[in-house]
Amino acid sequence: MGNIRSQVIEEIQSVPTKVPIAWKRRRPIGKIGGGPAIGIDLGTTNCCVAVWRNGGVEIIRNEEGGTIVPSCVAFPPSGGCLVGGIARDQALENVANTLFHVKRWLGRKYDDVSRSASMCLWPYRFARGPDSDGGDGDECVIEVDQEGGVKLRLTPEKVSSLILMKLREMAEECLGCPVSNAVIAVPANFSQSQKQATKRAAILAGLNVTRLMTESSAAAFTYALRTNNVASLSPADPLMRTLNRRWIGISTDSLSDAGSNCCRHVFDGRSDGQSQKTLMVVDWGGGTFDVSILRVSGMEFRVIATAGDCQLGGQDIDDAMVTHFAREISRKHKLSITDNARALRRLRMKCEKLKHKLSSSESYSLIADGLCNGHDFTMQMTRSQLEEMCRPIFQRCIDLVRRALEDAEVSKSEIGKLILAGGSMRIPKIQRMLSDLFGGKQLCKVIHPDECIAYGAAVQAALLTGEASLNVLDLEVVETVPVSIGFSDVRGNFVRLIKRNTPFPARVIEPNCRTPFDGRTMGTVSVYEGERVKCDENVFLGDVVLDGLRPGPPGSGNEKVPLEIMFEIDDDGILTATLSDKLTGRYACRSFGRRWGRCTDSEGRTAAKIASNVEDEDAADLTKSTARWRLTEYVHRLRWRLSFVTERATRSRMMKILDAEERWLSDNERKLFDVCEYHSHDETEGAHFRLSALEEECFGALLDDSLMLLAMSSRSLVGMGLSEELEVKWGKGGGGRVGRGKVGD
Ligand SMILES: Nc1ncnc2c1ncn2[C@@H]1O[C@H](COP(=O)(O)OP(=O)(O)OP(=O)(O)O)[C@@H](O)[C@H]1O
Ligand SMILES: [Mg+2]
Repeated sequence: MGNIRSQVIEEIQSVPTKVPIAWKRRRPIGKIGGGPAIGIDLGTTNCCVAVWRNGGVEIIRNEEGGTIVPSCVAFPPSGGCLVGGIARDQALENVANTLFHVKRWLGRKYDDVSRSASMCLWPYRFARGPDSDGGDGDECVIEVDQEGGVKLRLTPEKVSSLILMKLREMAEECLGCPVSNAVIAVPANFSQSQKQATKRAAILAGLNVTRLMTESSAAAFTYALRTNNVASLSPADPLMRTLNRRWIGISTDSLSDAGSNCCRHVFDGRSDGQSQKTLMVVDWGGGTFDVSILRVSGMEFRVIATAGDCQLGGQDIDDAMVTHFAREISRKHKLSITDNARALRRLRMKCEKLKHKLSSSESYSLIADGLCNGHDFTMQMTRSQLEEMCRPIFQRCIDLVRRALEDAEVSKSEIGKLILAGGSMRIPKIQRMLSDLFGGKQLCKVIHPDECIAYGAAVQAALLTGEASLNVLDLEVVETVPVSIGFSDVRGNFVRLIKRNTPFPARVIEPNCRTPFDGRTMGTVSVYEGERVKCDENVFLGDVVLDGLRPGPPGSGNEKVPLEIMFEIDDDGILTATLSDKLTGRYACRSFGRRWGRCTDSEGRTAAKIASNVEDEDAADLTKSTARWRLTEYVHRLRWRLSFVTERATRSRMMKILDAEERWLSDNERKLFDVCEYHSHDETEGAHFRLSALEEECFGALLDDSLMLLAMSSRSLVGMGLSEELEVKWGKGGGGRVGRGKVGD
């Protein structure tokens, strides 16, 4: 069943990928096969691709010899599509059709994107879906003009697929063979939908994603391999042999720029085999800020906390600078450039350059001749001006670092290394703030900020394909579920199936479920994440629905169809829920590709704290909802069984009685179930007691004795002879006669 299921998921994921003209021209989608596996950093601003070759990692160079490919895609008026540096270089001539920073919009709905404050600063056009090949009307698409004025509507994942295709081609050129397997690094707090969109983009690019890897974990891998903390040992060293699987070895020439070629690196924490280290990786790129705290034990890297913001990057600094200079231009020259897409794009490029310069100079001027309406501008800024302007942005980063520490429950002094990654970490101010937060601690800059993610992903890719054999390289990153995942029971209570901090991949089965009511032909699992007892206070992820169930007749024991629920989280952290009919083996499964408003790890911990503070309230709710549910379920069962009564007049009369009974129950619901509300908070305990007593008195016996239900009502059904009428013969498919004693479970 597992295989069929994964095939189904695979099919769903690879369905309509009708390729627009631009794709067809470039390259048909390749067939997934074996061959070398590459590691990809699909960044907001820049991408990088690396491969494991000859026992080491090689960063693949582009046609200009650089290791970085700008995440830029353009559709020139002459037709076709350009990717990378060539696309960026023509941006000013083709502003509206040059797309950049698209990772920000990946896997997000239009409404979500349109709330983004800086949307007006983007020179390309956003629209509500579907894209040119159809699809979801709610998704965000980007509209570009093609040759001959033909409009093309592209989802961000399609744009990303063009970039991935370019990276794949670079790898193929370098390796001289087809490449179809890749590990792609994604931000630590990418949502399920963002991860799914990344995978779909890879499929469109003809790539099989062997693993989605967290960017900070990739950086940690790289650190472990390239760190200055490695002891250099010759392979003949006795320590090398005794360390066995606890060491990582890799030939030096593939790792570092210098060194003897028979030398191997050993992560120093391994030498005693016991020591634990706590590392913090801070990765600040063009679009996302990510902080991860990892505990290194043996060759295992356990991510113990992550915090991040997918909408916090160097681009926000650029936005702030663009806004600042646009205001200055308007104030000084009475010129508005906000409606001039070309001027805005040019200003953005100038601002980014200015920002880079200010990382090494105290002040800098940029000249923009003919920026707007033929006017020339000289833009001058000091580093302290920039720092002051971006103070709130820097503060958000530091707040996330604090949050990660809090969530990991580690003190600042426990952090052994503060490892920096990402281009924006070159900014002196953020480095200073980070160092100050840790009492002036020295920051670790041993890994290349632009290449370290692809490097780590390539190592992971090689481990997965077996190219880097485990006795040469034995590294493992264990990631954990940041917040509990479960489903709603019939009372709306949260049943935790995968608990917070469970390492993934994980699979948990709940084998003892049933449809909620007798005779139901449909089963639904409502999937939630969170820590609260009540589902409506957790985050709803979606439903899995299994239709066409065949309940057994009354008395068969299968009036409620037996079901099994299974949750699986794969290596990429992608959740799939399956609901199966235990009688027939039929099942429905859903991969949560459309998961919005996902709890981050930190939110998960906060939710857990809240949950422990309100345990009493939750417990009271649980008692009330249990009471309510038991009665509802009872009424449903009665109704269903009545539907088997063959004599029409009797059946309809009894149904009327039940209708009236249900109305009475709903009118009196407050009195029956909300007893706690009549009492002050201090009296909750007493209320619990009274509620239980009431429940016992009113409903306790109901499940076993229909007469109790009747007695409870103001218009007792007993007097109307319901119990006798239940003694009638059941209809077709019925299980014989049912008397009072059989009306419950
Ligand atoms: N010297 C520098 N000073 C300031 N910022 C810089 C410097 N060099 C690069 N940056 C900024 O770093 C960002 C790009 O970093 P990087 O390539 O790590 O991002 P990315 O991986 O594309 O994005 P992300 O990881 O957020 O998806 C850009 O915003 C760029 O302007
Ligand atoms: Mg990055």
